[in-house]
Parts: sequence; C-alpha cells; structure tokens
Amino acid sequence: MIHSSLNPRTRKVVIPAAGMGTRFLPATKAMPKEMLPVVDEPAIQYVVAEAKAAGLDDVLMITGRGKRALEDHFDRVPALERSLELEGDFGKLQKIQDATNLGNIHFIRQIDALGLGHAVLCAQQHVGREPFAVLLGDDLIAEQEKLLERMIDVQQEKGGSVIALMKVPRANVSAYGVAAVSSVDGGPEDVVRVTDLVEKPEADQAPSNLAVIGRYVLDPTVFDILERTGPGRGNEIQLTDALQVLAEGEGEGFGVHAVVFSGKRYDTGDKLSYLKAVIELSSAREDLGPALRPWLKDFAAAL
Ligand code: UTP
Repeated sequence: MIHSSLNPRTRKVVIPAAGMGTRFLPATKAMPKEMLPVVDEPAIQYVVAEAKAAGLDDVLMITGRGKRALEDHFDRVPALERSLELEGDFGKLQKIQDATNLGNIHFIRQIDALGLGHAVLCAQQHVGREPFAVLLGDDLIAEQEKLLERMIDVQQEKGGSVIALMKVPRANVSAYGVAAVSSVDGGPEDVVRVTDLVEKPEADQAPSNLAVIGRYVLDPTVFDILERTGPGRGNEIQLTDALQVLAEGEGEGFGVHAVVFSGKRYDTGDKLSYLKAVIELSSAREDLGPALRPWLKDFAAAL
C-alpha cells in the first residue's frame, strides 16, 4: 500500500545511448549499437518498452554523433503506415506503431562522449529535483522480470538511490562496477545496503562478485556530485564514482541500496551476450520458437 509519508515516486527515465560501441565494431561504425536488432526489434525499443511497463513515460534519451537512427526509429513514417493500411497488413502496421506509442520521448545530445557519469549529468535540467531512473540503452532485462518496478518501490520506501546488482563469476568482475554490501535488518533478502563501489577492479581486488548492471533509480543529489566528479577509470567521468560518494555519505539524498537481481539480463553491446539474447528471445517466441527449437537441438547435438 502506498503511504503518504513515502518519498515522491519516480516518474522520469533517462536512457544514455551516446557511447561509441567499440566492442561491436565494425557493425557500429555507422550505426548505433542500440539499433542492433534483437530478433525484429532494435535493442533500444525493449528498453523504452520496459520503462513504459514500469509506469515511466517521460523518457529522455542521451544520444550523440551518428545516433540519428535512434530518433528516427521512434518517429512516425506516415507513407509506410498508409501503404501497410492499403495492403491490409495490420499486423505489421501495429508493430511499427508500437515504437511510436511508447510515451513522450525527448532527446538531448552529449556533445563529447566523456563517460556515463557525464551522460547522466546532461539530464540535469530535464529531470530537475526529483528521483529518476536510468536505463542503459544496450542493457536488456527479460520482459517478465519486474526489476525496475521493484527498484522504484525500494527507492520510494528508503529514499537515496537504488542500483541493481547481479552475481557474476569472479573472473569477470573486471568488466563491471563492483559493490561491497551489508544486509538490511529485517528487510527482504534481495535488498542490501551498498557500502562501497569500485569501477572495473582486478579480480583479486574486487570487494565482492556483485556487479552493477544497467538499471538505476537515483536521487537528484547525484547531479551535485557528478558536477564535481573528475575523470576516473578509462579517463571517463564514471557514474560509479559518483555513486560511491553517495554510498559513503550521510544526510538528505545520500545512501545507496541495491536490489540483487537473479533473472535474465543481456548486454547487447557485448557480442556473446547479444547472440544469447537473440537465440533465447527468438526461441521463446510463438512465431519462431516452434521451428527454431528443434533446429537448435540438432545443431547443438552435432557440435
Ligand atoms: P559502455 O561501457 O557500454 O561503453 O557504456 P560504450 O562506449 O557504449 O561501448 P564500448 O564499451 O565502446 O563497446 C555504458 C552505457 O553508457 C552510455 C552507453 O551508450 C551505454 O548505454 N555512455 C557511455 C554514454 O551515453 N556516454 C558516454 O560517454 C559513455
């Protein structure tokens, strides 16, 4: 039940999509990695649909040079709609209209790709002084998982900021931000307090095997911290560094909790994870699954 003394509920979402996508070159030389198709929808459409499903329909997308296709994808194409209508292909018509019915999408450019922290700072004016969600444009959470709604609930109850963590093999921690956590007395098992954060540590120096994944619900105090956060790991302004300050500090707007997620998640900016997303999601689909699944079994058996 929603209690009147709770903090204001998150309404806005920021989707950073200005990164260079170097892990997916040459495919991303002239095309945003967020436009790579996962089955027949670009990865970014899953992310915007996830925000909408969680009740967030004020979307600010952070784009950059070479990312025009992102804006075009969420715009209408009247000539195409008319021709599908004339052909009576209402299934396809519905599919292309799905992308334009996802709420109010605003765009702003990050002029220089100075890092994820800097991309989030570009949202300051649009967001104002209220809690907001950040969803990375290349990070895909399976549709049936209600991670974002859960994070919004936790933020509303506890205040401060909320991140999402996932257990990863120790050998892989150096690809992520990694958290040190403590348990919350009397709280649900999957909600922990974050005591420290390190961006891409070496395996033997990581505080845990709990990796930060691309979902955040942040207190606007993060903007004040990002304004004075210099370049960190990889010479980029890191969101993890600002979150570390929030985790260690006390007072209004400080404090970081995490929801430990154990569902399905794919990093579509990573080639292997992208391939897994395409195979898993298409084999679960009613139109493709029945033909794909037996083929996959034969294929795997012959390996
Ligand atoms: P990544 O770590 O995936 O970096 O960014 P990248 O540059 O996009 O991709 P690679 O590593 O070169 O292949 C994490 C998220 O932060 C956004 C990216 O778009 C992605 O959603 N980002 C990163 C920005 O919006 N701006 C930046 O300056 C950097």
